[in-house]
Amino acid sequence: MVRARLTIDPARPVGPVSRRLFGAFVEHMGRGVYGGIHEPGHPEADRDGFRRDVVDLVKEMGVTTVRYPGGNFVSGFRWEDSVGPRDQRPVRLNLAWHSTETNEVGLHEFASWLEQVGAELMLAVNLGTRGTLEALDLLEYANVPSGTTLAEQRIRNGRRQPFDVRMWCLGNEMDGPWQLGQMSAEDYGRLAARTAKAMRQVDPGLELVACGSSGAAMPTFGEWERTVLTHAYDDVDYLSCHAYYEEKDGDLGSFLASATDMDRFIETVVATADHVKAVRRSPRTINVSFDEWNVWYLSRVPAGLARRIDDWPLAPAISEDPYTVADGVVVGNLLMSLIRHADRVTSASIAQLVNVIAPIAAEPRGPAWRRSTFFPFAATSRLARGVALRVGVDCPGYDTAEHGEVPVVDAAATADDGVAALFLVNRSQTEEAEVTVDLAPLGVRTIEEVLTLSDPDPHAANTSDRQDRVRLRPNPRAALIGGRLSVSLPPVSWTAVSLH
Ligand code: AHR
Repeated sequence: MVRARLTIDPARPVGPVSRRLFGAFVEHMGRGVYGGIHEPGHPEADRDGFRRDVVDLVKEMGVTTVRYPGGNFVSGFRWEDSVGPRDQRPVRLNLAWHSTETNEVGLHEFASWLEQVGAELMLAVNLGTRGTLEALDLLEYANVPSGTTLAEQRIRNGRRQPFDVRMWCLGNEMDGPWQLGQMSAEDYGRLAARTAKAMRQVDPGLELVACGSSGAAMPTFGEWERTVLTHAYDDVDYLSCHAYYEEKDGDLGSFLASATDMDRFIETVVATADHVKAVRRSPRTINVSFDEWNVWYLSRVPAGLARRIDDWPLAPAISEDPYTVADGVVVGNLLMSLIRHADRVTSASIAQLVNVIAPIAAEPRGPAWRRSTFFPFAATSRLARGVALRVGVDCPGYDTAEHGEVPVVDAAATADDGVAALFLVNRSQTEEAEVTVDLAPLGVRTIEEVLTLSDPDPHAANTSDRQDRVRLRPNPRAALIGGRLSVSLPPVSWTAVSLH
C-alpha cells in the first residue's frame, strides 16, 4: 500500500478553469468526418447525414469547442471548395492523409453540426500553401454580417447570421517537415504577424493562435517559440502546444508518467513566452492553446500511407486505436496537467474526436460507443468548475526510463461556490494508494460521488461486442470525516471525487 498525503490551500488558487479546456479537434482525416460524425444512410443519420448517436455521445462527453478542419489537412485546403451547393463542390486530393476529399462536409454543415452538439467553432486557416489574402477571405465570409460579395455569398448559401468565429489558428505545425509549406521560424513568425494584423483589421476582437512547435521533441523546440513570438508577440493571443503520448516497448511506468512531460512542456513554453514579454517590456501575456493532445499510437501508423497516384481512398481507416484502461488513466492525468496550469492554458483540444485517435468509435452502419479515454474526459468536463487549486502531493516516487523519478500519486483540484472536485491518479502497477487530504478549508461536507477508472487488466479495452467492459465505476472506498477525506485508489487508476 502506498500512502499519499495531499495539501490544498484554497486561498491561493491557480486561476479560473476555462470551459475551453474541454475542447476537441475534428480533422478531415481517416474516418473522423466521413464515416464518423457523418454517414448518410446510417439508421441514426439526420436529414444532413449526421449521426444522432454520435451527436449524443459528443454532448455526453462535454466537448466545449472544436478545432476544425485540420491539422495537417488544412495546409492543402481551399476553403471555397467546402461551401455552396454540395453537388457542385470539387473533389480534391487530401495530400496530408493520402485520400480523396469530396467536400461533402464543409463550413456550413460542420457549423450546423456544432450547433447540435452545443460547442464553439475554432477555425484553422491554411498558411502552408496559401496566405494572408485567403485567410482574410474566409474571415470575411464567416464573420462579416452582410453587404460584401463574400458575406452575401454566405447568405445565399443559407446562412444569414455570420458564423462569428472567435478563435482562429494561424496555420498548423508549420515547423514540421511533413507539413505542406513547412517554414522556418523567421518566415512563419513574419507571416503569422502579417496575417494576424490583417485579420484584426476585419475583426479586432478575434483570438489568434500562432503555431508553436509540433512537439517538445522537435529539434528547434524553444527557439521556434522565441523566434515566432519575437515577430508576432503583439499580434497574437496564444501559442499552440501539441503533444501525443504512447506506451512504448511495454514501458507502462514511463507511459503512466506522461503528464509530468506535459507539465514540463507547458512550463517551458510559458517561460519562453514570458521571456519575449520581458525583452519587449510588453504588458500583454501570451497564453497556451494546447490544441492537440492525446494518447496516440503513432508507432502503429504504417511508415508511409499508400502513396500510389492511382489510389486515393475515400475515408480510409487511420489510427483507430482501441484504447486501454491505461490509456484512459493517462488521458485523465493529462487533463489534470491542463487544469493545474489553468492560469496559462486557457484553451485545449483533445485530438481527435470520432474514430481517428478518438474517444468515440462509430462503426459503419453499426453502433457508436465510448472508448476508455471518453470517461475521464466526460467526468472532468462535468466536474472541473470554478478555479483550479494548488495541490501539494507528499508520496513515494518511482523511477522511469523516460521521465526520471516521478510521484506514484498525482492530483488536481477545482472549487466553485460550495462544490469542489478532486482528480487523482495512482501510477503504481501493483499497489493500492491510500490518499488523505484535509478539505476543511474548502468548506465541503459531503461526498457527492467517487468514480474510478481501473481494471485488473490495465490493457483491457472496449470493443464493439463489449462496449462497457471499461467504464467508470463508483468507488465505495472513500470517506469524509471531520473535513478529512480518505480514498483508496486501485493500481493503474484514475479517480474523480466530487464534493459539496
Ligand atoms: O491529429 C493528427 C495530426 O497530428 C494532425 O493533423 C497534425 O497537426 C498532428 O501532427
